[in-house]
Amino acid sequence: MPRCLARILAVSLAGWLAAASALGQTSSATSLPGARVANPSSTSASFSLGLSKDNGASFESSALTSDTIRLIGTIRPESAQINQKADIYVVAAVGASFFMRNLAGNFVPWDGQVGSLVPFRSQETLTAAVPVDFLTGQIPVVATLQLFMGYKAADGVLTYTQTPLQISVSDRPVKSARELATDAYAASISSLVQSNPACIACHVSGGLANGSGLRFVPTSNANHLSLNFAQFESLVRRRGRSYILTTVLGGNEHAKPIAGGAQFRSTDLGYRNLDAFLQLVEKL
Ligand code: HEC
Repeated sequence: MPRCLARILAVSLAGWLAAASALGQTSSATSLPGARVANPSSTSASFSLGLSKDNGASFESSALTSDTIRLIGTIRPESAQINQKADIYVVAAVGASFFMRNLAGNFVPWDGQVGSLVPFRSQETLTAAVPVDFLTGQIPVVATLQLFMGYKAADGVLTYTQTPLQISVSDRPVKSARELATDAYAASISSLVQSNPACIACHVSGGLANGSGLRFVPTSNANHLSLNFAQFESLVRRRGRSYILTTVLGGNEHAKPIAGGAQFRSTDLGYRNLDAFLQLVEKL
């Protein structure tokens, strides 16, 4: 059996460059030419492979470890091979380490020798376009991966992706203070403003608190999240977090005869969420 590792490493760079230029989203998986591990090495067989987070509607070149993804492959064998039985192989390379997927569905180390390659699907009948579910799930490692596919039909020759698909997997990106505050507003504060306890009942244009530093817009305004967030941001800047907290507990402006009164007790979840949110806003 010929050694395949050197060949795969030699072609990796080409695939790397090809994949690097394919930034962003595409509507189809990447076409990958085929090569035979034999003389001649040329073949009319070809492959396609792509990383999708939406079940094949679009394809990307990167994912997060937390993303549930699919690596969707297709083998287009030589026309003379259609209806032959074939073993199907998938390999992922991380740096100089290779992993092959076995029949049990596990990725196990591969030494790069064709002779020790084990199939991930065995004796499958070739059609014009054989779907290959390379992986469905998460990739729990932060890494740049080179993905290869191949098959051996009746002649026993390995035909594989000459250029691998390169994908990168990263951890959840570190969010900025503004993203964290914006997320917190949407997750736990907007509901206080709008409905429970509904600050907007008074803090709205024409409302009882029309003259205050908090004037909210209703959810019918498409920009309500960002506009209402901005109200808190500017009031925190002018008066500070504890002033707002004291007010909603019934102090400051809310202590006036006709005002908001105590909207919360200090043990309420809503109050604690508001405090946590305002602490994030303080950092902006
Ligand atoms: C029943 C009406 C009412 C409700 C409900 C209400 N407020 Fe008020 N709030 C007022 C009034 C009236 C003022 C004082 C306006 C003024 O002095 O011109 C005020 C003032 C404030 C101020 C001081 C603003 C400033 O510019 O100094 C803050 C902060 C505040 N409210 C927060 C809230 C929050 C947060 C909620 C919801 C959890 C809320 N209020 C619910 C009526 C209300």
